[in-house]
Amino acid sequence: MREIIITIQELKRKRRAVLLAHNYQLDDVQAVADYVGDSFYLSKVAADVKSDVIVFCGVRFMAETAKLLAPDKEVLLPERDAGCPLAEMITAEDVRRLKSEHPGTPVMCYVNSSVEVKAESNVCCTSANAVKIAASLPGKKLIFVPDGNLGHYVASRVMEKEFILWPGHCYTHAKIKPDDVLTVREKYREAKVLIHPECDPEVARLADFTGSTSQIMHYAEKSSAPAFIIGTEVGVLYQLSAKQPDKKFYLLHPGLICPNMKKTRLESVLAALKDNKHSITVEQAVAAKARYTLDRMLELA
Ligand code: 13P
Ligand code: SF4
Repeated sequence: MREIIITIQELKRKRRAVLLAHNYQLDDVQAVADYVGDSFYLSKVAADVKSDVIVFCGVRFMAETAKLLAPDKEVLLPERDAGCPLAEMITAEDVRRLKSEHPGTPVMCYVNSSVEVKAESNVCCTSANAVKIAASLPGKKLIFVPDGNLGHYVASRVMEKEFILWPGHCYTHAKIKPDDVLTVREKYREAKVLIHPECDPEVARLADFTGSTSQIMHYAEKSSAPAFIIGTEVGVLYQLSAKQPDKKFYLLHPGLICPNMKKTRLESVLAALKDNKHSITVEQAVAAKARYTLDRMLELA
C-alpha cells in the first residue's frame, strides 16, 4: 500500500498531474487526492487548477465536466466503466421532445447528465446550487432533468415557478424510505438527520437539513449536535469521522453504497497515471454548447 502511494506521488510530480476525488470515493483514494469535494467544488477546481493532467476519481459525467471546463488538459477517468445510471436516464432526443412540448421554456440540467443532454440545455446545476440557479432564471416555467427527486426539492424551494420534471432517479438514494427516517430518529433521538436532495421528496421533507455532500459535511461541522444520521452515500463518513472524532455519525440505510463510485481503487489510480487510462474526449460538435451551460452555472451560482 505504502509503495503504491509513493509511486502515485512520483508519477503525479513527473506528469504535472492533480488527483480530484469525489466525497463518495474509497477512503484510501480520498486520502491520496489533492482535492476532495462535491461535484460543484470539483468542477471549479478542474476549471482553475494549474496542471497538465487531471485524474478524476469519480464517475464519467464528472470527468467529462472537467474536460469541458479544461479542454487543454488531459483528463483521465481511472475506471472506464464508472458511470452514473441516473445520468443515463435521459437522452438528448428526450430533451428535444420536452422542448418542443413546452416551447420557449428554459431547460436546467443536473450535472449528472451526458454531454449531449448538457448541450441541449440552457443551464447546468449541481445539488449545491440548483435552488439558487433556478430562482435566478427569468420566466415562470422551467424544465428540470434528469433527477425527478432533486427537481421536486428545487420546486419546493422555488415556489413561484412551475416545474416540468423528468422521472429520473438515483438507485442508491432511492433506497431510503420515509419509514427508515422515522425508525432511526426514534433510535437516535439526539441526532440530526442530514439528507441529499437525490432522495425521495418525502424523505427530504423529514430531514433537519438537505444539501449536497459537502454542504452536509459543512452542516455537521458547524452544528453543536452530538450525533448525525447521514442520508447519502457512505463515502462521506470517512472525512466526517476523521475530522470530528467526538461526534457520532450513523448511516441512514445500509444500502447507501454507489457501486460505480467504489470501482476506483489505488491500483486504478496508479494505472491511470502510468498508462494514461482512460483519456476523456468529448464530441466537438456538442462541446461548445455543453460548455456554455457549465459556464452559465459558474456565473449564476
Ligand atoms: P454532490 O454534488 O452533492 O457531491 O453529489 C453528486 C452525486 O452524484 C450524488 O449522488
Ligand atoms: Fe450517480 Fe447515484 Fe452514484 Fe451519485 S450516488 S454517482 S447519482 S448513481
